[in-house]
Parts: sequence; C-alpha cells; structure tokens
Amino acid sequence: MDNTQLLNLLNTLTIEEKIGQLIQLSGDFFNAGAMAVGPMEKLGITQEIVQLTGSVLNVLGAEKVTTIQRDYMEKSRHKIPLLFMADIVYGYKTVFPIPLALGSSWNPELVKWCNRLTAKEACAAGAHVTFAPMVDVVRDARWGRSMESTGEDTYLNSVFAKAMVEGFQGDFTPGESLASCVKHYAAYGAPEGGRDYNTVDMSERRLREEYLPPYKAAVDAGCELVMTSFNTVDEIPATANQWLMDEVLRQEWGFDGVLITDYAAISELIAHGVAENEKHAARLAMEASVDIDMKTSCYANQLKPLLEDGAISQQKLDEAVLRVLRLKNKLGLFEDPFRGASIAKEQELKESYESKSLSRKAATESLVLLQNSKNTLPLTKATKVALIGPYANSQELNGLWAVYGDKSQVITVKKAFEEIMPSDCFKYTQGCALLESLDGLGDFGFFASEANALNTDEAREAEKNKAIELAKWADVVIFAMGEHTLQSGEAGSRTDLTLPKIQTDFMNEVLPWVKRSVLLLFNGRPLVLTDIKDRVDAILECWFPGTEGGHAIVDLVMGHVNPSGRLTMSFPYTVGQVPVYYNGFNTGRPPKSSTHSLRFTSRYLDSPNEPLYPFGFGLSYHVAEYTNLKLSHANMRAGQEIEATIEVHNTSDVEGEEVVQLYIRDLVGSVVRPIKELRGFQKIHLLPGETKQISFKITEELLKFHTKSMRYEAEPGYFEVYIGNSSDSDICARFRLE
Ligand code: IFM
Repeated sequence: MDNTQLLNLLNTLTIEEKIGQLIQLSGDFFNAGAMAVGPMEKLGITQEIVQLTGSVLNVLGAEKVTTIQRDYMEKSRHKIPLLFMADIVYGYKTVFPIPLALGSSWNPELVKWCNRLTAKEACAAGAHVTFAPMVDVVRDARWGRSMESTGEDTYLNSVFAKAMVEGFQGDFTPGESLASCVKHYAAYGAPEGGRDYNTVDMSERRLREEYLPPYKAAVDAGCELVMTSFNTVDEIPATANQWLMDEVLRQEWGFDGVLITDYAAISELIAHGVAENEKHAARLAMEASVDIDMKTSCYANQLKPLLEDGAISQQKLDEAVLRVLRLKNKLGLFEDPFRGASIAKEQELKESYESKSLSRKAATESLVLLQNSKNTLPLTKATKVALIGPYANSQELNGLWAVYGDKSQVITVKKAFEEIMPSDCFKYTQGCALLESLDGLGDFGFFASEANALNTDEAREAEKNKAIELAKWADVVIFAMGEHTLQSGEAGSRTDLTLPKIQTDFMNEVLPWVKRSVLLLFNGRPLVLTDIKDRVDAILECWFPGTEGGHAIVDLVMGHVNPSGRLTMSFPYTVGQVPVYYNGFNTGRPPKSSTHSLRFTSRYLDSPNEPLYPFGFGLSYHVAEYTNLKLSHANMRAGQEIEATIEVHNTSDVEGEEVVQLYIRDLVGSVVRPIKELRGFQKIHLLPGETKQISFKITEELLKFHTKSMRYEAEPGYFEVYIGNSSDSDICARFRLE
C-alpha cells in the first residue's frame, strides 16, 4: 500500500477499530497459550476488544500463528492483519550465547549473522517483530538483566546495537527478516542498588553521554520500534515521560516508528504514583506519544472516554494508529498476513548445520579465559580428565531469555568431551547440587527447571566421595559450576555475587585431592571470584553459551580454538564496589596521584578500587606485545583527523585473535571527563611470530561530549590515546586539539 491508501484505510476505521490497533494482548486471549497468562475478566478485556486488537504478544509456532491470523482475518472488517511480536533475543530454536557473552566476542559482524539466522528461524514460526536488541548500559552486576546487555560501555553497546538491528531487519525480505524493537528506553540498566524495576536517577548530562547513545544507535540503524522502560527518568516513569519520548526520541532523533510499552507499564503508572487511575495513566502515556499498550486494558477501555472528554485529540490517536499501520505495511502483511510462516520451513531450519555451526562459532568467540596459571590449558587427549559439577552434564545452557530455545538440542560439556576423548582418559560425576533449593527464585512462567539437587544426605555424600576418587585419579579436574538460570535475567537481582555456597563448600572438600584444576563458569553476570581465584589454576568464563555450548567449551579447553573473548563488564573484587566500571571520573583525590595522604583519597579501606578483572580483559593461548604507539600528528586542527598506529606482535608459536582496543582521555574539559573511554577496536588475527601494524583514525567526532553548556562538541586541549588489549593498558601518546 502507498501512503495515500494507508491514510484512506485509517479514515475508514471507527474509533474502536483505531484503538484496537494500539492494543497488544498475549496468546491466552486467542486461546493460544502464552508466556504470561492473566484472566481476561480481571484485565477488563471483552471478546469485542480481542477481535479488534492489533498485535499479539509472545505466541509463536507456524501452526498457532497461522490459525490465529486466519480466524482473525475472517472476522476482520478491514482485513488488517495482526502483528506477532515476541522476545527473540539471542536465538529462536537455535540459541546463541547470551548477549553479555556475545558482547565479549567483540565481533559485531558475527553477531549480525547470528541475528540474520535467528530472523529466518523465527519468521518461519510466524514472528514479525522481535523485542530486541536490549542495549541498556549496565554497570552494576547485581542487576539480573546484565545478561541481556552487551555490557557496561556506551560505545561498545552502540556498535552492537547497530549490528543487531541490521541483523534482524536486513532488507525486510519477508520470511527472512524481523522488525526490531530496541529496549528498554531509557536507562533501565541503572536501577538503584541493582534491584530490578527500581528508581533510576541521574543527571541529564550523564543520561545523554552514557546511557542514551546505544538506543540512538539502534534508531539510526533504522529499528522500527522502541520499547519504553519500567523505570523512572528524572522521577517521571519512562512510559509517561514526554520529554524522553516525544522531545528526545521523536523530535530530536526523528524516530517515527512504533513506540510500545513494556509489559503492563501503563497501568504501573498508578503504582508509581503519577496516575490516579487507568484513565489518567492512559492519558499520560498518550501524551508521551506511546503507541501500543502491552497487556493492560488502559488504552482498550480509556482512550474512547479520553477522546470524548477532549483530553486527547483525534489527531494524536490517528498519528499513533498510522504508525502501527505503516509498520504492518512495511512488513508486507497486507499482501501476505502469514509472511513466511511455514511448518515445513520451521522443521527444515530447526536443526540446520548452518545454525549449529554459527552458534558454535559465536560461543567459541564469547568465552573468556580469565586465568591460566601453569599453562594448565589447553589440555591434550592424553590428559586424564575428571569432569565434575552441576553444569557438567546439564542442558541448561541457554540462559533465561531463550524463551523458545530447544533445550533438547543443547550439547552438554560431558557429551562434547565424550565425542573426542579416549574413554580411559575421561570420567564424569555430578559431584554436587546446583543449589540447596529453589526457594526464593520465584516462578518465571515459561521457564521450568530443577535445582539439580541430590536430594538425600546419602546421595550427596556418595557423590562427594565419587568426586574425590575421580580427583585422585585425574591429572586435571574440570569443575563446571555456576549460577542457576533463575538467578539472573528479569527480576533476578542478587546482593551476593559469589558462587552458590553448596558449590564452594563442595569444591573445598575436593580441591585438596586435585593436581590441576579448571573452573568452567556458567552465569549471567559478572561474579565475585576473589576467593575462588587463587584456589584453582584456570578459569574459563562460559556464561550461558547456548545450543552449542558444550562443543565450544571443549574446543577451547582442548586448544582446537584459541580463546579470544574479552570482558565487556568489569568483574568486581567485592560486591561493595559496585557499580564498578572502567570509565569513571578521576575525582579530586585519585589514590595514585593525589597530593593528599593515601588515607584522604577516594578509596576503600578494605578493597582495591579496581575490579578483579577489568573491562576489555581476557587471556589467550598466544601472547601479544603492543609496542611503538605513534600518532601521525601532535596537533589536530578542528575538523581534521589524525592517525594512531601501534605494532602488535605475537610472541608465541600459537596463532590467535587479538582485540586491539583504542581508548581516549580528554585531559581537561569544561565538565569532568572520564579517565578513559573506548573509542574503537579491531579484532585481528595473528600468525605465530607475526607482527601487525594497526591503525585507528581519530576524528573530531570521537572527541565530542556534552559540554558545560550542554552543546555536543569537542573542546580544544590535550588528549591521551591508549591502545592495548584491555582497559587497563597504559601504553599512551598525547595530542592537542587546537
Ligand atoms: O520484552 C520483554 C521485556 O524485556 C520485559 N518485559 C516483558 C517484555 C515482553 O515479553
């Protein structure tokens, strides 16, 4: 349809039909079952409203979607198809590593291809829109949703935001692309105390400098939808925040796509205390230019009375409806309401070689080697290996937001070892339970899981004794430990970031018998590893690695692939440090260079300021040296660019990938500036003994920030350039912007 046809269609709709386009209901309203079920009457949704509803939440599967769409279209006066939207965040049936892991790959191009493939799989299952990417900057590991973000850095999250949107949307070919919905706008990743849904409060400068850019990068990449966040911004809930939604998003950034709320966020305006009732809440959301109400009856029941009262205008309503119709049109739904949904295709893609190998590659690039004393890794096939721990033979490797992932396809670590190890060199036992119990973890709807419990004292004792026997036999014990899936993800905030006690107690009993040890970690956030670190030889951070997790882990452990993942979130030394991140401000009393005595500097008495493992850190089996950092010019004129060059030399006889990272520090600004900011990176391949010269262009654009007057510009003065393999690199050169 062209624009005129869409406008004509809009003009033929009744008020009720228009409002219907702005309502999203879950599958239970269509008898399809869905992730979260709420009784219809309680929500105040009538059968008439269901028949006018414009979109469906979290129902997928070609058969289900086709049936619902067909029934709906038969009854629909104007034959306006339903939109099917779902959380397809890091894979559909084939699951890729969680986004925090994908970020650790520092390979946006690879992640784009993961999303391309996800889009194909999900299209076959009838999806039109994905609620992804999630690009919230997160610096507090207590927040369970750390797992869904690519981490703590504004620049890196922006790069991934663009890649992810491009991956999902492609060129909008039906059957191969999804419309992408960036979330959660805005600053959802900064709740006070890391507690989910809690207050977010920060200066406008910080918001614009550090938290907004990744959403903007997604908008600039053409994402079709934006989701409002649950939190407040400047004490106004995002869903009712006119400044955030209308002024910044729509007017400043020029976003003319669909703005949808997060789950029930309009009615939550009442609990927030900014709306008296549903009618008030609906008006506030409308005024903030929110188009679709996800899963409440506020728009369904209150927009008409609001129109009749003149509290919202017909024009405002029409603009919102038109945006939804335009999206349906762009997706080609008026021509084909099923848009590639196909049972046969769904089956065909389900176990494809292509998706499995991409998932394996993504996982191998996402794992981060945190420690490797005595060169414990890689192992050889002649090594006698005992694999022990609740994650050793677990298919629970997908993490919490793999809503549709096919768990039965997950390759366990045990299976992957058995495929390659001689049977007399490999033994396994579970050893201990994952958690003491599931108490307190709550119910997560679609996610059903066990504690992996060994239920009786006898069973526990027997397992422990077996583990000790295996430890005595083995050359190397591999412990596969971690958080329970339900300990991270939405509403998965924690104040204790250590491994579950039942696991550390168990390790304490077994470690005295161990010759060499490797700790494989499965978790959805940075953990505090300070105590365990010195008691094991090697640590491989595996995150939740997805369908091919077992293969990827064994690829790295056995040295078939050289680890190349680098952290994108700092691992705290202790939870008392959080939020801890690499690019804070210097303060007036930095411990390392203050004129004051150490006591009176900005520091903790009982912990270093620095995290245990910093942003950008990760080991490989090769060793690279960085030397000869040079700048093409000592002075840069406004509007010009300079080049920074460094030599990276692989001093080892192993080939591998290096993530060469560029950081810049603005030494003096009209407002304080971070001690370092990531401004570029390149993932390069080095042959044994090879040296490569790597260059970065430094443009004036890279030096801009929100100055004292809130203008976004670069200020003249000195800048330091750091290039290295981590945010704590101190190889530095200096130039002046004139
Ligand atoms: O997309 C999600 C969001 O991230 C959290 N609340 C529910 C939404 C829809 O399922």
